[in-house]
Amino acid sequence: MRDPRYDILFEPVQIGPVRTRNRFYQVPHCNGMGHVHPSAMARMRGIKAEGGWGVVCTEECEISPLSEFSPYIEARLWDECDIPALARMCESVHQHGSLAGVELAFNGYSAPNRYSREIPWAPSNTPVRGYDPVQARAMSRADIQQLRDLHRAAARRARQAGFDIIYVYAGHDLGLPFHFLTPRNNRRTDEYGGELKNRVRLLRELIEDTRDAVGDRCAVAVRLAVDEQVADGLSREGEGAEIFSMLADLPDLWDVNVADWSNDSVTSRFAGEGYQESLLLGLKALTRKPLVGVGRFTSPDTMVSLVRRGVLDLIGAARPSIADPFLPKKIEEGRMDEIRECIGCNICVSGDHTSTPLRCTQNPTMGEEWRRGWHPESVPGARQPGRALVIGAGPAGLECARVLGARGMDVALVESSRDLGGRVTLESRLPGLASWARVVDYRLDALSRLASVDIYRESRMTAQDVLDFAAEHVFIATGSRWRRDGLGRALRQALPGLDNLPVLTPDDVMAGAIPPSPVLLFDDDHYYIGSVLAERLVAQGVDVIFVTPAPDVATWTHHTLEQHRIQRRLLELNVALIASHSLCGITPDGVMAACVYTGRPRMIPAAALLLVTSREPEQALYQAFSDAPQTWRAAGIRSVELVGDCLAPGTIAAAVYGGHRMGREFDAPAGSTTMRREVPYLQVL
Ligand SMILES: Cc1cc2nc3c(=O)[nH]c(=O)nc-3n(C[C@H](O)[C@H](O)[C@H](O)COP(=O)(O)O)c2cc1C
Ligand code: SF4
Repeated sequence: MRDPRYDILFEPVQIGPVRTRNRFYQVPHCNGMGHVHPSAMARMRGIKAEGGWGVVCTEECEISPLSEFSPYIEARLWDECDIPALARMCESVHQHGSLAGVELAFNGYSAPNRYSREIPWAPSNTPVRGYDPVQARAMSRADIQQLRDLHRAAARRARQAGFDIIYVYAGHDLGLPFHFLTPRNNRRTDEYGGELKNRVRLLRELIEDTRDAVGDRCAVAVRLAVDEQVADGLSREGEGAEIFSMLADLPDLWDVNVADWSNDSVTSRFAGEGYQESLLLGLKALTRKPLVGVGRFTSPDTMVSLVRRGVLDLIGAARPSIADPFLPKKIEEGRMDEIRECIGCNICVSGDHTSTPLRCTQNPTMGEEWRRGWHPESVPGARQPGRALVIGAGPAGLECARVLGARGMDVALVESSRDLGGRVTLESRLPGLASWARVVDYRLDALSRLASVDIYRESRMTAQDVLDFAAEHVFIATGSRWRRDGLGRALRQALPGLDNLPVLTPDDVMAGAIPPSPVLLFDDDHYYIGSVLAERLVAQGVDVIFVTPAPDVATWTHHTLEQHRIQRRLLELNVALIASHSLCGITPDGVMAACVYTGRPRMIPAAALLLVTSREPEQALYQAFSDAPQTWRAAGIRSVELVGDCLAPGTIAAAVYGGHRMGREFDAPAGSTTMRREVPYLQVL
């Protein structure tokens, strides 16, 4: 039963000629499936509609090869041939009574056109974004007219595909209409440059063109970044709000956010829920049209407050809808405790950045809806229900136990320590990672509702205990531990001289150890842990020298849009950064490092060394079994499996996914779990 407090979230909202059944609005988000895996994309969007999102949008949708986003895999409406793929998404969304939106995008100098090799367009001559050795050329008036024609034609194709809401995209400093708005990108002297009225002209024309082309049946939405959070950018207090006011009632819907993408999809390490609210305040009073905004909203009370206080009409969400496609339905049915809250880690963004299907730490079914047939809220019953023993209650063990329990197995989840959650519980105590505890919270709550799952804490299992337990299926999820010898990507052999200085690992620091100062932190892991440990140690009064073989700190976090923030934070904390250096040995006075390019050595004085290199799976228990299959079979055990980090250490997302997959597939007949794929139909155009 729904709590009446939340009724307001389920009110319909009129958006131009269409009406959404509630206020839950999945804003555009890419997914690494797009035009390459259209059935997978359609199924994923359909599940969002099934889960109650009243509006479900595409990602950026290319309208022409004159601006294409390769190697990123986005939606595509270049011509008629692209209509059926997107029609599939519309059908999938409409099936559940939701509206489908499409974000038509032409990205100008933000897209170097690596595939089509067309010269990118821009308001004025400029190098493209990023480091491609490509320059965009200033658009002529004829180009502007051509762009308007292309946009109009794409809007018609979008209507034909079945879309209800059609976007003009001026967000993130990506869409070309946005480039026209900003003086730093627009140095034109004609009627499209100069004073603000002129810079807004193209956006105004595109809105009018779109309405003219499809406004009879489709709503016209604008995604506008009102603030860029940079010194020379648009600001909410300045031209951002002015542009909004100038166009106030022209579109049917405003979708307002900030630029660039890293400011919009900021991680929980750097901003909390509702981080865009101060920029949204007051905009609604400037228009009579509905307003949608974002801010990693997962709390129904925050959502209600935003609507009641007149900040927003529609609750926009990308990541909360990825982590829990059924978030609206859970509120509607009074099952708020069951919401799988986004942890704000941006693993989802990494899928797009690496041109692979979307993945999510909290929702292991994301991206697998079509190709593996996984549903986020249901699992089929076990083929032969029986007893399962899951050893280790980290992210993989918790998820595996949850899925096994949901499938009707009798599950014992056994954990050696008092705390549940394994590495997630430990890591969530580090600076900025508190939200990560949601991975554990969601699973413990789900397990508490499964009568067939028992949890045993402080129970370290020996091989004999496992045999005595006599479960039919044993899942070993004992995690991993950080190596103490430096082995990793850069060092293929143990670092010489390990006895010369105190040597610590992340496990030691997470257990409370404080090294003598200064400590040299060698980060050959390249994700977040090295930098959060550095933050923690600085807070404890330890001077940190951060050495990495990569050209910048935490280099993989470019994929989570965090790298520049991490580097800035470490610099602000006076952490000494030494990039492009590996280690060669340890002396009593410090650590010998060498440049990865020249091999030139240098001595770095330090009182201790913290090695963040690689992890070793905890497989001791498993080894006892793998050596004696007859013994465990005689004890009635039918299978023994490794799950998560103790199979191969990876991200928390990979551990959750591994646990989920094991829970679903451990009893599948051989060969029945292959991944579906779409093979292109060879049609020469
Ligand atoms: C994986 C991912 C892909 C995104 N792709 C797009 C996109 O294609 N177009 C767009 O306008 N915004 C895109 N965004 C930004 C979101 O629409 C949204 O504005 C932002 O993530 C903040 O909302 P949230 O906190 O609800 O995630 C993307 C965000 C994510 C996380
Ligand atoms: S990957 Fe992380 S940030 Fe993205 S939706 Fe999932 S939990 Fe949220």
